[in-house]
Amino acid sequence: MLRSTFIALSTNKPLRRFSERSAVGRRLSSRFVAGMEIDEVMRAALSLQNLGIASTLDALGESVHSAEEAQKHATTYHQLLDGITRHKLTDSNVSLKLTQMGMDLDPSLAESIVRDLTAHAVQANSFVRVDMEGSPYTQATIDLVRRVHSLPGNRGRIGTVIQAYLYRSEADIKTLTADGIRIRLCKGAYKEPAELAFPAKKDVDANYIKLTRQLLTSGIFHGLATHDEAIIRDTKRFVDENKISRDSFEFQMLYGIRRDLQHALVKEGFRMRVYIPFGPEWYPYFMRRLAERPANAIFIAKQFFRN
Ligand code: FDA
Repeated sequence: MLRSTFIALSTNKPLRRFSERSAVGRRLSSRFVAGMEIDEVMRAALSLQNLGIASTLDALGESVHSAEEAQKHATTYHQLLDGITRHKLTDSNVSLKLTQMGMDLDPSLAESIVRDLTAHAVQANSFVRVDMEGSPYTQATIDLVRRVHSLPGNRGRIGTVIQAYLYRSEADIKTLTADGIRIRLCKGAYKEPAELAFPAKKDVDANYIKLTRQLLTSGIFHGLATHDEAIIRDTKRFVDENKISRDSFEFQMLYGIRRDLQHALVKEGFRMRVYIPFGPEWYPYFMRRLAERPANAIFIAKQFFRN
């Protein structure tokens, strides 16, 4: 009930406009968003690097309404890749959304932006991760990533995300790994119909574990994005039992979520990457985090009134 309320609120335009412009809103968002400016996200990535944690940088924004807006987001991503080089972030990359690059307006615009960013990532010794959005974009995202990955010099420089809640994901992993494409596995954050996605959380969790095994035995470096302690425990056991190197994959978590677990895994010798979002368009992302764990709303409110 609360989950669907927050998901519904995440698309509420007046509330979004009000929140993103208000100082209070920005302060509340700071729990999950590293700031409004590039300098702030760089500082956050450097602090994590000092703790042995890699990063992926996300300039927040979704569903643009003009080609100029898409180009503006593309420019920010080029600045992020320059910043990664300038600040000597040795294991940092970028995560972007296709709708932010104009996918709904003109898919060829989005593809050319992603192609240019991947070429820049190659120069910067970095990597482009194309986040996965709702199911209307699944096939188009996979197809676009495969095309850009197949261009000369791009092998291993662009990857995408697979969502364990979708029935199709096992087949998609087969297709992507056959091309040598790196995958981030997550549970999935959008509202999907029962024809396409497991409605019950326990089935999503079981599929996540099954797909984790598929990824860990593929011989390709993948990211396991979850804060779920039971799944992480199961993964550690599977890796140990099958003598899979701790260097051959990474765990990924979101900025500001389960920092204790992030540090504990690094101490145990696992690789950890944190997804760091920033920028003035933080509202839909923030609401999706509240939807995942409505208790966060109370936690954030308490912190707000304490400060
Ligand atoms: P689950 O929701 O079952 O939570 C397990 C435990 O984690 C909770 O009990 C709680 O302790 C903790 N937790 C989870 N969410 C929390 C929150 N918001 N606040 C506090 N604690 C929380 N989705 C998508 O559709 N497309 C994408 O491209 C991505 N990309 C992505 C990148 C990275 C690095 C991560 C970690 C996640 C994504 N996601 C995503 C989001 C993902 O699909 C999912 O919604 C969240 O990760 C929550 O799922 P968990 O696996 O953490 O499990």
